[in-house]
Amino acid sequence: MTATSPECITVRTEGRVGIVTLNRPKQLNALNNQLMDELGAALKAFDADQDIGCMIVTGSEKAFAAGADIGAMATYTFADVYNGDYITRNWETIRAIRKPVIAAVSGFALGGGCELAMMCDFIIAADNAKFGQPEIKLGIIPGAGGTQRLPRAVGKAKTMDMVLTSRMMDATEAERAGLVSRVVPLDKLMDEALGAALVICGLSLPSVMAAKEAVNRSFEGTLSDGVMFERRLFHALFATEDQKEGMDAFVNKRKPDFKNR
Ligand code: HXC
Repeated sequence: MTATSPECITVRTEGRVGIVTLNRPKQLNALNNQLMDELGAALKAFDADQDIGCMIVTGSEKAFAAGADIGAMATYTFADVYNGDYITRNWETIRAIRKPVIAAVSGFALGGGCELAMMCDFIIAADNAKFGQPEIKLGIIPGAGGTQRLPRAVGKAKTMDMVLTSRMMDATEAERAGLVSRVVPLDKLMDEALGAALVICGLSLPSVMAAKEAVNRSFEGTLSDGVMFERRLFHALFATEDQKEGMDAFVNKRKPDFKNR
């Protein structure tokens, strides 16, 4: 965590779930360096905290995040952005988080906001959510994975449509296309996300982290390499006491009590 209290996010826990709420309401949670630094620090702290099993990143009803802060970016030069200390700072931190991170999205998830949601492990959307990569209207293109993660989620046709025309996708279309895992009424969004997070928190953490690592590996390299990677993780989990506990509980028709949560 940052030494001082964060100003652009709020951080709280609910049981073993760490919740980060983006909090720049006047700018529709536009992502500036301070917010990204605070978000990265908060997620890293939760990742290292043995009392936390899962994380949720969320925004406001009106906006998950309306993108990178255009006002801040407006005067940047090539050198400013290329040296890495502007805009993309700390985005890779989120990718390196090992425990599951759920994006609970309501309202606008545009540009860097859509990319941030896609960096999370899965997206639960409220029925008012709108996803888009409108950077083309600003004379730029997505810069935090939009052209790479969106086609992996929804395919080339919809990605090209969104990236080239800046068309937004509503929650229904996003679910149909595979960008989001669930759509719920706005007032049920946090309950749904918390429910999913609490399920994850009740499971064996080594298997949860291995599952996340294996699924993410499917987006890198070849199928053969991915299958072999999965197999080795699968084998390794037989060395955990939680595997014995989980299988014994099933065989004896009782609830498992995992030790490594
Ligand atoms: C800075 C922003 C902002 C942004 C909104 N605001 N989006 N400020 N950066 N990305 C501010 C507005 O200036 C305004 O401030 C206030 O939030 C409310 O926004 P309105 O436009 O008045 O609201 P509304 O009419 O409801 O329209 C909502 C909106 C629109 C459709 C989301 O704000 C919009 O198009 N925003 C820009 C979206 C975008 O282009 N995102 C991509 C950015 S580039 P005031 O002071 O006027 O009230 C990007 C690159 C990522 O993300 C690269 C990652 C490395």
